Amino acid sequence: MTDTTRFEGYGVLVTGAARGIGAATARRFAAEGARVLVTDVDEEEAEKTAAALREQGLAAEAFGCDVGDRTSVESAVARAVAAFGSLDVLVNNAYGCTPDTPLFEDEPDDVWARDLDLTLTSAYRCCRAALPHLVTSGRGAIVTIGSVNGIQGIGNHAYSAAKAGLGSLTRTLAGHAAPRGVRVNLVAPGTVRTTAWAGREDQLEAFRQVYPLGRVGEPEDIAAAVAFLASLDASWITGTTLVVDGGLTAINSAFRLTIS
Ligand SMILES: NC(=O)c1ccc[n+]([C@@H]2O[C@H](COP(=O)([O-])OP(=O)(O)OC[C@H]3O[C@@H](n4cnc5c(N)ncnc54)[C@H](O)[C@@H]3O)[C@@H](O)[C@H]2O)c1
Repeated sequence: MTDTTRFEGYGVLVTGAARGIGAATARRFAAEGARVLVTDVDEEEAEKTAAALREQGLAAEAFGCDVGDRTSVESAVARAVAAFGSLDVLVNNAYGCTPDTPLFEDEPDDVWARDLDLTLTSAYRCCRAALPHLVTSGRGAIVTIGSVNGIQGIGNHAYSAAKAGLGSLTRTLAGHAAPRGVRVNLVAPGTVRTTAWAGREDQLEAFRQVYPLGRVGEPEDIAAAVAFLASLDASWITGTTLVVDGGLTAINSAFRLTIS
């Protein structure tokens, strides 16, 4: 059940929040009382997402932010502080992953560099801009969205390497920020039904069969984990990775089926 007051008085910034997991996360924080800056490179869609929250009486506004650009990120952080008076939670959700990348041997440097920049360096950029404000908050928290791709050998090489890097960034930044009262954690989702999978229903159905809990994830599954890690219920948790994947990485389904 949603606690409508858990984040009362909080200012929250979510990147890539126009749709998918970011939008569900923005919804979850707003529903629990936070004021949320819905940021996305797609400003028009971000505005629709924020407007839908406002129509439900929740506190949200939109801001165009490209996480690949330092000035854009710094403007978004400044906007959150100006609009809400404080920034208490940063959610690094935006990413870049080039579809249909060529074979490993043929991948051009610029494709590799772009995916790393938009998936790993982007989170660093956002943390760097937000950290002073999160320190001032006194209850500051960063939650970054990783992936099971950063844990197991699956997926696009650059994207997966970047997601693994986010685990390391989470731990090193957690060590740096802990004495200043800011917690830093990572959520690593398995497959989640979002626009990222649009038009690939067959693939999602095939995935469903290998997920031990019998389904792929929904954006709200991830939003709930993000909200937990950002909340005071997690006040003694920092530097950790919370895997939210229906048992995918813990249970070797193929092996299990051979012995049952
Ligand atoms: N969907 C999955 O199966 C899955 C699984 C594991 C991890 N994840 C992670 O969850 C997060 C969200 O994924 P999703 O499935 O909701 O994606 P999505 O494609 O549905 O939404 C991503 C959003 O990010 C925005 N975006 C893209 N580039 C941006 C940029 N440069 N600056 C700002 N915003 C930008 C897009 O406009 C879009 O609104 C990502 O970090 C992704 O790696 C997703």
